[in-house]
Amino acid sequence: MCGIVGVLGSGPAAPIIVNALRLLEYRGYDSAGVATLHEGALDRRRAVGKLNALAELIQAHPIHGSIGIGHTRWATHGAVTETNAHPHTVGKVAVVHNGIIENFRELREMLTEAGRTFTSQTDTETIAQLCDHHMSQGLSPVDAAGATIAKLEGAFALAILFDGEEDLMVCARKGCPLAIGYGDGEMYVGSDAVALAPMTNRVCFIEEGDWAVLTRAGATIYDEAGTLVNREVRVVSVSPALAEKGEYRHFMAKEIHEQPSVVGYTLGAYLNENRDAIADIAADIDFANASRLTIVACGTASYAGEVAKYWFEQVARLPVEVDIASEFRYRTPPMPENGISLFVSQSGETADTLAALQYAKSQGQQIVSIVNVPESTIARSSDVVLPTHAGPEIGVASTKAFTCQLTVLAALTLAAARARGRIDAAEEARLVRTLSEVPRLLSEAIATEDLTIPLSQELAKATDVLYLGRGSIFPLAMEGALKLKEISYIHAEGYASGELKHGPIALIDEQMPVVVLAPRDGLFEKTVSNMQEVMARGGKVLLVSDEEGIAEAGEGCWRTLKMPTCDPFIAPIIYAAPTQFIAYHTAVAKGTDVDQPRNLAKSVTVE
Ligand code: AGP
Repeated sequence: MCGIVGVLGSGPAAPIIVNALRLLEYRGYDSAGVATLHEGALDRRRAVGKLNALAELIQAHPIHGSIGIGHTRWATHGAVTETNAHPHTVGKVAVVHNGIIENFRELREMLTEAGRTFTSQTDTETIAQLCDHHMSQGLSPVDAAGATIAKLEGAFALAILFDGEEDLMVCARKGCPLAIGYGDGEMYVGSDAVALAPMTNRVCFIEEGDWAVLTRAGATIYDEAGTLVNREVRVVSVSPALAEKGEYRHFMAKEIHEQPSVVGYTLGAYLNENRDAIADIAADIDFANASRLTIVACGTASYAGEVAKYWFEQVARLPVEVDIASEFRYRTPPMPENGISLFVSQSGETADTLAALQYAKSQGQQIVSIVNVPESTIARSSDVVLPTHAGPEIGVASTKAFTCQLTVLAALTLAAARARGRIDAAEEARLVRTLSEVPRLLSEAIATEDLTIPLSQELAKATDVLYLGRGSIFPLAMEGALKLKEISYIHAEGYASGELKHGPIALIDEQMPVVVLAPRDGLFEKTVSNMQEVMARGGKVLLVSDEEGIAEAGEGCWRTLKMPTCDPFIAPIIYAAPTQFIAYHTAVAKGTDVDQPRNLAKSVTVE
């Protein structure tokens, strides 16, 4: 939910920190701040709003020093004000923090009783107050930091600076990601490897519960018990260029257009050498004896799971239960013997999904995850990790990660079907050929982008929009509605079109646009009859179908949008493109912030 950066450099730290924060702004952008040590004294600049506000402030009031920490905030505790912006400085200590300190109230009460005065409403200030309190009792900076970290409950990735300590920084992680970067005589800390990419590609992802003492010479890492540990320093291949928009106006536009290539790259990683069968990706997953597959995720990732339910049940004949993580983790459902639990997450850091994974693990499930960040916490907690190869997804609205998730899920479906004896080699080869058409067909679907612009400008005037679909397209109707909601702020709902008569049809009037996603699959005629019920009541229907579908049912529709003809098995992946463009161009028409919509952040690492 927030992004943190730390630099122990040889030159000015502030510009490096601000640039790194730009690569983390997708994690939250309510406010931002930098603290440095200059001539031994702590200095700080903070600003409400996007990072540009902080950059302008620093331009007007430069902040010096070669060691510093920075933060871009998504507010959890405390309003969006400068007082609540990080870094929080108390006495000799400055702290930046991502996560939630769950016991901050009792710590705050204890410290207040000890005579300390709080200035902010945040949980993070408690960390700075406690650390400074320990130092005022005679503990050294490192011992004070260690004692503070040991008292914190909840989720945190944090970095701490100390007055007078020009070559010292302490960082820690628990429940939130943190990476240590190794430079030449410089050291860095960041919420992810993308933020560190401009400075170094030598990165150590410290483990859950670790904390580290950094100097420019390197890092001394301790585990939660305080034992000295060694953690692998790996060379990562993340380039900052991947986190650039290029010639696109928004990251979301770039990432929509990247889909044919990243889906193709992802699929390629899951096919055998002859590209006529799925590779041995499920060797360690006992599909043959599985009694049930439980799929758990949040938001867009959960809709990918909902699509996969149709695939696994129809092709692999494997019973599937799909649930959103925020419900699953507290529903604490009984889990079957020989059950497999699959967690889908772009960031691999979503708090609810991680908590759900821990519950499933406690119930003896085999844990499989599909993530876009292989070194993420969810990946590290899984028995089997199936990465998507979408590359960094910066736009808050998930697009290329979603179609890559679907691609991996489709490949996994075929692997499961083969393991369960439900398809033979010929059928597998046919379905693999169908899957291999996705990059080309996605390109054709994306080529219709300009046709969505005029209709999106009309949609921008709507206050409510309905998305309809059946079968494996029903979850896509929900995903399309989510895309529109989260970036254009227009209320939208996705519905199974067969459900219309059970209430929602009362909503239909001449004002409400209804987006009907209708590939010509076995349910096309059913969907069309639902669509005609809408039109009979004056509803404004946008029919998204292929040439034959539009020829058959397009007459009288408000608008039609033609998709390439495709096999129903892959229609959910192909029809994702128009839902993305409709949301994108509607948001552009409305002038909302497409890449950083209000109230949102890319990675929800708090519950
Ligand atoms: C997608 O457009 C949203 N930004 C959101 O629903 C997202 O899919 C959800 O928060 C899950 O994130 P994850 O895939 O990183 O776990």
